Amino acid sequence: MSALEVSYECCTEIPRMEFVCYLWFSFFKYMILHAHLNGSEKGTHYALDLGGTNFRVLRVHLGGRRSSILGHDVERQPIPQELMTSTSEDLFDFIASALKEFVEKEGDGSETSLDRRRDLGFTFSFPVKQMSVSSGILIKWTKGFAIVDMVGKEVAGCLEQALTRKGLNMQVAALVNDTVGTLALGHYHDEDTVAAVLIGTGTNACYLERTDAIIKCQGLLTTTGCMVVNMEWGNFWTSHLPRTTYDIDLDADSPNPNDQGFEKMISGMYLGDIVRRVILRMAQETDIFGPVSSKLSVPFILRTPLMAAMHEDDSPDLQEVGRILRDVLEIPDVPLKVRKLVVKVCDVVTRRAARLAAAGIAGILKKIGRDGSGGLTGGRRSDNKMRRTVVAIEGGLYTSYTMFREYLHEALIEILGEEVAQHVVLKVTEDGSGIGAALLAASHSSQSVDRV
Ligand code: BG6
Ligand code: GLC
Repeated sequence: MSALEVSYECCTEIPRMEFVCYLWFSFFKYMILHAHLNGSEKGTHYALDLGGTNFRVLRVHLGGRRSSILGHDVERQPIPQELMTSTSEDLFDFIASALKEFVEKEGDGSETSLDRRRDLGFTFSFPVKQMSVSSGILIKWTKGFAIVDMVGKEVAGCLEQALTRKGLNMQVAALVNDTVGTLALGHYHDEDTVAAVLIGTGTNACYLERTDAIIKCQGLLTTTGCMVVNMEWGNFWTSHLPRTTYDIDLDADSPNPNDQGFEKMISGMYLGDIVRRVILRMAQETDIFGPVSSKLSVPFILRTPLMAAMHEDDSPDLQEVGRILRDVLEIPDVPLKVRKLVVKVCDVVTRRAARLAAAGIAGILKKIGRDGSGGLTGGRRSDNKMRRTVVAIEGGLYTSYTMFREYLHEALIEILGEEVAQHVVLKVTEDGSGIGAALLAASHSSQSVDRV
């Protein structure tokens, strides 16, 4: 047993400096977007948000002054599993129907209310080659989606065709990644927000970069002198990240082998399945779980919320652990010391994930000079003082899994040092990915669109 634990403990030691340096070099090929909010946006705006556990439709009411969101309505529903691997038409028709029902609730549902042309923010949380603020081409799917005919297609166009099929007069005014929506909302409320991080079903980050620090944007003039860089960090990889046999097997069994290596070690879609794989091996190599349950071989049967419930079981006899082992994995009652071992596995897997995410955040702060060192492209204040630095965060893994959150904070302090870390605020920006897209859609008509 200890050998298994040791292999995991090894992975929690991050080769820190090498990691942060590698991180930022890898991502410039991805989306770079310029669009900013000036606070004068007003009226009712819609957004769609696709890419997390739930698909969301949102309506946001803006007051026309900075930070004056008068209110918002959100409806969430899971994407049926079969649609994740069917055709683009099926997926977008489903989304368009949900939006239509939602829009109909705005007014009296009469034809006039559907006929009115509306702009839409579309949060599409997958790697996209951004062509303009309102268009982009799907590079590949992640997070279990695998709709072959969609890859290489222009995303906003596919959605607009489905909206037309459903009789909706709507046009995508902003097509954004969830990190970008989250950064937009974070920055709208708090101008010290310099980056956004998603830690949910998938993981990714974006940050504000000076245009002159981006090689492919040299000479490009933007209103603010800044660009948003979507890092797609889920696909980050380096040989400095040790992988266990569980990571290697999980990757090989996934629909996207050799892709999204960082994401597969961190995000909510995968953590529970890593734990399942460890328990399966323990059950195969020892008799502590009794006869090997066939449920242990079912991929993704142990979802991350169940893993979190076991990890955070504070009952003296670990009743919740016993219940999940019995009801989900069909492992009959096991002694307390075995249940404790299961908790330990959850702990090691979560701690590694949280520390990797913290290293990623530290990498961004280092890149933009907010790690107290002056940074790789400058940015330190002349008086040498560290500025207040806000990172907007969204995603169920971070918001709902207390131990994950605590390990991440602990690691960030460890990497940055207490003095610097006290200036760094990680701010949960709930529904930010969708609300931010509505804000960007609202602002788009008066914005410049830069093609890069
Ligand atoms: C993104 C979605 O992919 O994931 C957002 O676009 C969502 O809607 C975010 O907020 C986090 O949600 P989850 O379910 O992955 O924790
Ligand atoms: C995946 C997607 C990325 C998204 C992230 C978080 O990594 O590729 O675009 O931002 O999940 O949802």
